[in-house]
Amino acid sequence: MELPDYVKARQRSKQVVEKEFYKLDDDLRQIGRGKKYFLKTYGCQMNEHDSENIKAMLEELAFEETDNYKEADLILLNTCSIRENAHNKAFGMLGRLKHVKEFNNPDLIVGLCGCMAQEEGVVNKIMNKYKWVNFVIGTHNLHRLPYVLNDSLQRQRQEIEVFSREGNIIEGIPVKRENAYKAYVNIIYGCDKFCTYCIVPYTRGKQRSRNPKDIVREVEELVRDGYQEVTLLGQNVNAYGKDFDYEYNMANLLEDVSKTGIKRIFFMTSHPWDFTDEMIDVIAKYDNIMPFIHLPVQSGSSRILKLMGRRYTKESYLALFDKIKEKIPRVSVSTDIIVGFPGEKEEDFLETIDLVNHCQYDNAYTFIYSPREKTPAAKLQDQVPEQVKEERLHRLNEVVNKYFLENNKKNIGDIYEVLVEGISEKKNELFGYTETKKLINFKGDEDLIGKIVNVRVTEAKTWSLDGEIVK
Ligand code: 5AD
Ligand code: SF4
Repeated sequence: MELPDYVKARQRSKQVVEKEFYKLDDDLRQIGRGKKYFLKTYGCQMNEHDSENIKAMLEELAFEETDNYKEADLILLNTCSIRENAHNKAFGMLGRLKHVKEFNNPDLIVGLCGCMAQEEGVVNKIMNKYKWVNFVIGTHNLHRLPYVLNDSLQRQRQEIEVFSREGNIIEGIPVKRENAYKAYVNIIYGCDKFCTYCIVPYTRGKQRSRNPKDIVREVEELVRDGYQEVTLLGQNVNAYGKDFDYEYNMANLLEDVSKTGIKRIFFMTSHPWDFTDEMIDVIAKYDNIMPFIHLPVQSGSSRILKLMGRRYTKESYLALFDKIKEKIPRVSVSTDIIVGFPGEKEEDFLETIDLVNHCQYDNAYTFIYSPREKTPAAKLQDQVPEQVKEERLHRLNEVVNKYFLENNKKNIGDIYEVLVEGISEKKNELFGYTETKKLINFKGDEDLIGKIVNVRVTEAKTWSLDGEIVK
């Protein structure tokens, strides 16, 4: 049994990160024969991509996927810690599963992985109140899933294997991609920013960049397999390469990935503090690097930004924003904003509204501040009352939504390259995303799915566009 420990999770060692290769013992390859698994994923794209690895690992053990948890022999929850409501969803699901296990299927194996597995409080609760959960496996040792699962099949006791310190980068974990045209590619794991509200540096560990050669090779393989689009993933992709003992950064990586010839490249998430002029130039220069940037601001008040530990001010953020808008043709920018951070006063909130009025974002994810276990912000005295947070969120949403619609209206008549992803259920039309990552619906032949077509925008809504194919 190995339990999570926040003191260790906070430490950042200078130890060099090595590369290891995923291995699977042959005698495990049949442990899932005749059995079905159900995997539920919560949270961000990192988790979605981890789930693609989990599925492939389970299928190498001969498990078969089901989308009905009631007929599963193995249920795995890939969880998220970012806000309290993510926790609540996972615990709610565990409550339902207890019922299934008690009344329908006593042999059901239930496992929990993802960020919640790295939290001391969660693991203690599972050990004390959820004794029927079969295993918990952490984010740093996910590649050991076959072994932890095998142990819990063999032994009648709860298995907990959570490493608090990140280990090496594991290459060669199998992957079952959800989509045949667009793929996620990890470029950097962990985060060293320690924004005071955020739990990620504890649950995902120290910043570790993947070797550029491995990334380029993976993208080349994707090109060969017919993929049109990659999204380069990391909690803070702009810090890419900072942990190398040689000079190689995110701008270099973007350039090298661009040269693989993949048709479309997206990347996320970018911390404003690490965004360099060199990156802006590279994005502007290469046609296959999409003009879309997710640039979380979190707050428009420099005072609150300081308390958040964000390392930039309202003014320096706006200077970066304006430069991006000026230098990258047709760029669209989205953001994340938190309201109700401890100590946020009405005047701080109005600074956020003022910033939004300047930036007029194409998209924004807005959140109510949620105190996270043992993070510095959770210990601040001046917590904002729930009602005030909700009221601010509502006011903020009205402003951001107004700009989504206004910007979309400005796109009417423009022609975009769209990767056709499928048929929308509601309208029986094709749908896809523009280079600027806007959802667009249009009429067309099913054969176009997986292809890139030119689409002219004909109508604008708050959350999507309508268009027509241009021959
Ligand atoms: N409360 C609310 N929102 C948070 N985020 C991160 N931590 C918290 C928290 N404790 C938001 C940030 C981040 C996004 C992924 O989630 O806006 O950019
Ligand atoms: Fe969390 Fe992002 Fe800040 Fe890292 S940069 S601590 S992931 S909000």
